[in-house]
Amino acid sequence: MEIEKIFKEAQDFLPINGTDYIEMYVGNAQQAAYFYRSAFGFQLKAYSGLETGNKTTVSYVLEQDKIRLVLTSSLVKDGPVNTFVNAHGDGVKVVALWVDNATKAWEETTSRGAESYLEPKTVSDENGSVVFSGIHTYGETVHIFVERSAYKGVFLPGFKAISDGFKTEPIGLKYVDHIVGNVKLGEMNKWCQFYEKVMGFTQLVSFDDKDISTEYSALMSKVMSNGNGRIKFPINEPAHGKRKSQIEEYIEFYNDAGVQHIAVATDDIIHTVSELRRRGVQFLNVPAVYYDTVTERVGEIDEDMKRLKELNILIDRDEEGYLLQIFTKPLVTRPTLFFEIIQRKGAQSFGKGNFKALFEAIEREQELRGTL
Ligand SMILES: [Fe+2]
Repeated sequence: MEIEKIFKEAQDFLPINGTDYIEMYVGNAQQAAYFYRSAFGFQLKAYSGLETGNKTTVSYVLEQDKIRLVLTSSLVKDGPVNTFVNAHGDGVKVVALWVDNATKAWEETTSRGAESYLEPKTVSDENGSVVFSGIHTYGETVHIFVERSAYKGVFLPGFKAISDGFKTEPIGLKYVDHIVGNVKLGEMNKWCQFYEKVMGFTQLVSFDDKDISTEYSALMSKVMSNGNGRIKFPINEPAHGKRKSQIEEYIEFYNDAGVQHIAVATDDIIHTVSELRRRGVQFLNVPAVYYDTVTERVGEIDEDMKRLKELNILIDRDEEGYLLQIFTKPLVTRPTLFFEIIQRKGAQSFGKGNFKALFEAIEREQELRGTL
């Protein structure tokens, strides 16, 4: 597969076609699946569990356009999923990447210093075969490389197509725009170098605590991208503020570095967010004053500002255009993982102009949790 390279500096040792799937380890996959189907409009596609011969874990595979979410729970005592959930709560274990050659992806990355998680192996069923391999990244998170060109099944060998008659209306989520990792104090550069040296990514932008600080909290962030721009991984680390930053709060509750948020793209954020709100999803609220000055900052936009304000959608502009974005409150028990909904109208950045307004909103939530 040839996909145009847009960031020439990226070495791209392993061409990546896109995000293959995101797997979360959760306490109760059945109920988590119901939540993402009901609230986020994902469709149930595939299943693995006792009925398919899997005696240790149960997984539900959900889909919406190009996004695949896998929710996995343990069927046994003291398995790896239990250990993970015990330490981190529900969270992202696997960010799987779709490659043309999983063996080469493993060789290119491990030879450059990646720690192996899974040596290349081929798994087959009546629908063909898939080659997998995997490496460790920050915290207990891993990347699995998936080579699926010889596979025609619904997801992966070992999964069967499933339908239970419960249909929910999709809400217009299209693809994974970016996945953000929170790493420990002083480790941002180490992980950015990992993505550059081991994965062949390039750095797009960086923010420091002058960009992203409020009275109390601050963070530093760099965005790493592969050559075709389909994989973007911002990496955050806490910066010193007067009180505890949201990144520190995350690391304290997650007990490690890990995925902080998954940003998913839509072509109609007003529709998507209206539906999410109607279905009970909670978002961070920015103060109404945010909208008093927003037009000065971003200029003319196509959308009805009144609707954006009602829905609390944020707007930011860069040299290439503008973007609309909103952040959910944490979707799991601990104040850790959340989702971002983003609509890009030319802008390729990440909403730097919104950070201050947003962090003030996050701090109000932290204050309520007593963790500021
Ligand atoms: Fe984001």
